[in-house]
Amino acid sequence: MKTLNDLIKKYNRPGPRYTSYPPVPFWNNAPSEGEWITHLKNTYQESVGVDLYVHVPFCESLCYYCGCNRTITKNHEVEEFYLSALLKEWEIYKDKLGSLKINSLHFGGGTPTFLSPQNLERLITTLLQNKSSAFIGSIEVDPRTCNDGHLEVLARCDILRVSLGIQDFDPAVQKAINRDQPPLMVETLVSKLRAHHFSSINFDLIYGLPKQSLESISSTMEIVAKMRPDLIAFYSYAHLPDRIKNQRLIAEGDLPTPELKRELYELGKKLLLENGYADVGMDHFALPSSFLYKALQDKKLHRNFMGYVDKKSPILIGLGPTSISDSSMSFVQNIKDMKAYQQKVMSGALPIEIGHTHNEKDLLIQEVVLEMMCHNEIKVSNKENLPYWAEIEAELKAFQEDGILELVKNQIRITPIGKGFVRNIAMSFDYHLREQATKVKFSQTI
Ligand SMILES: C[S@@+](CC[C@H](N)C(=O)[O-])C[C@H]1O[C@@H](n2cnc3c(N)ncnc32)[C@H](O)[C@@H]1O
Ligand code: SF4
Repeated sequence: MKTLNDLIKKYNRPGPRYTSYPPVPFWNNAPSEGEWITHLKNTYQESVGVDLYVHVPFCESLCYYCGCNRTITKNHEVEEFYLSALLKEWEIYKDKLGSLKINSLHFGGGTPTFLSPQNLERLITTLLQNKSSAFIGSIEVDPRTCNDGHLEVLARCDILRVSLGIQDFDPAVQKAINRDQPPLMVETLVSKLRAHHFSSINFDLIYGLPKQSLESISSTMEIVAKMRPDLIAFYSYAHLPDRIKNQRLIAEGDLPTPELKRELYELGKKLLLENGYADVGMDHFALPSSFLYKALQDKKLHRNFMGYVDKKSPILIGLGPTSISDSSMSFVQNIKDMKAYQQKVMSGALPIEIGHTHNEKDLLIQEVVLEMMCHNEIKVSNKENLPYWAEIEAELKAFQEDGILELVKNQIRITPIGKGFVRNIAMSFDYHLREQATKVKFSQTI
């Protein structure tokens, strides 16, 4: 029987994160604007509505590890131009599709609370003119830029699920990543969120950051346990300095070795479990009282580009540069460059840069990958239709021998130890990766 370290050595290799299937680097056959609108019209049902994602790509200061799409500026005059472009993009969709029922709205970034409370409220009330009765609103909040005005607007506008960017509470780690955020600042914010009756608080944490040690993870987890957020995302630091320039500001010598990085994860996970959190999968943890844990129990967990959710519409419309949209028949991603995005939108056209129209194989594998990530098991009843099935079958047997999964009739069950290797199992089913592996540089799977 292999030890965890043996498994990590064997399986830790570059691979996609599978926030979508196919992963963005393998997209091809982009729909034209006309085809994209037809896909949306064919999929849309008033009873289930659409999910909206709004990207706010501004931050006041740079976190050295950051791999997100954002612009660093302290100039808040950009808000006005940006809001006009976002609202224009939404107008274009409404002109083409009519009034859409909004099932959920998620603000991501960058830093959504970079916008002033007044601008945030103007944006939300315009977008939510046709809100479903079961509406869910969520937002990523940087504790350093969230004021009382933001909290009042969010509470008033029904944006009640909040995700706080924490990363680590250790002062040496915070210094090494250029993110000064004392625990007291977060504690105060958490108390205010509870006083305003926000329904869910998530903390984003990262393991594998510079200067992290077993001691620093222990003390971070101790502070986290006291604040007791409902949910925790415990992400693996994706270090790609060749592609992400700002990560070159991190001294390589300050980074933990791959072995220590895995130990940091294992220790963090152990402490979270001891403190009553359940392992949802893909680096996510939840208190039994949380909506995510309930969804896991009821087998109603879903995943979209932003992570795990308990409700999902067949359509996701993403507004803003780099935002991704999903029609269930195809994906599109908006232009990345801010200026080009604004110019395209203001000319009256949708700012689509790239896209992918699914074929039957993509849809089959998409289902397999989602089942695996949301339910830790896969039904492979129509397996003969999966491309490269002979190769997949051989690899699944090897995963079984390594204790990563169990093969039971037409079902694959991922074992508790196997939860850390879900990306590797997904890679086995990924026919695009088999055919184009050398084309793209991915982060390490573990
Ligand atoms: C787009 S940020 C939004 C949160 C907000 N901007 C903040 O930092 O407070 C979402 C999360 O992505 C994660 N993240 C950013 N860069 C990362 C990287 N290189 N590797 C792993 N996770 C990363 C961080 O945990 C961060 O909180
Ligand atoms: S981690 Fe968040 S606050 Fe820091 S630079 Fe990235 S998006 Fe901005």
